[in-house]
Amino acid sequence: MVTWIDIESTPADARRERHEISRFLNGLIQPEDGVMWSARNDFECQPGLTLKEVSYLHRCVPKRRNEFLAGRDCALHALHVLGKEKRALGRMDDRRPTWPPGFIGSISHCEGLCLAIVAQTNRWRFIACDVEPNLPLPEDLQSFVLLPTERHAHSCSDLPDRLWYGVKESVFKALHGRVGSYFGFEAAEIRFDIKKGQFSSTLSPWLKTAARIGKLEGHFLVTPRFLVTVILAPPS
Ligand SMILES: CC(C)(COP(=O)(O)OP(=O)(O)OC[C@H]1O[C@@H](n2cnc3c(N)ncnc32)[C@H](O)[C@@H]1OP(=O)(O)O)[C@@H](O)C(=O)NCCC(=O)NCCS
Repeated sequence: MVTWIDIESTPADARRERHEISRFLNGLIQPEDGVMWSARNDFECQPGLTLKEVSYLHRCVPKRRNEFLAGRDCALHALHVLGKEKRALGRMDDRRPTWPPGFIGSISHCEGLCLAIVAQTNRWRFIACDVEPNLPLPEDLQSFVLLPTERHAHSCSDLPDRLWYGVKESVFKALHGRVGSYFGFEAAEIRFDIKKGQFSSTLSPWLKTAARIGKLEGHFLVTPRFLVTVILAPPS
């Protein structure tokens, strides 16, 4: 189940962090529940691709190419654990990956970490993940991403402001395909339960109606280098 790429020279603190992320994900995600994760810390890989993906990659700089390939590789690995043969995914015009019939999934990458989660649609209605570097948001982005109530909550807690950003990115990935149109950071208000490592997002009236769900709940992990958020919602 551990799908990290093991590099002998990985420093001890990075290995500890990997174990922490694995423990977090294994606590939420089990293949017997029809959901699986896979992660990479090195982005050197060559997963199978569709022609559309290959032609997209021709237009990308090497860094973007590598993160795209790592995301595909993780997703295919997780699908394989759930019994799906490793067949290239494809990509929609709005950037969403195309999942095989009967599956949904989510991909995220940042410097040094790539994560994919896939799930069977008969067991899970919405899933999403996001990984971010554990670094402060640029100041101009903070007022753009956090609502006034969230800025207040942030000022009263030790949580990094980028965690609000990561959770909202997850909310977007979970719901965008369902609602079919773009929505901004003001469309969800996030509250954290720090002790439980959980969050809940209250959706704006428009988004609630469009997504046919009132709120989305999820889990988060803060490590020295990364912020990881996961949303897993079963059918109501
Ligand atoms: C789509 C978006 C969330 C992706 O986030 P990102 O910071 O670029 O990067 P991440 O690494 O976390 O995620 C990228 C992956 O998400 C997936 N993705 C891209 N667009 C997506 C979409 N519309 N829906 C679901 N998944 C999407 C892709 O797999 C992509 O990786 P790939 O192109 O290599 O396959 C972001 O670009 C965006 O548009 N955000 C603004 C909207 C928003 O967050 N609103 C807040 C709502 S509360």
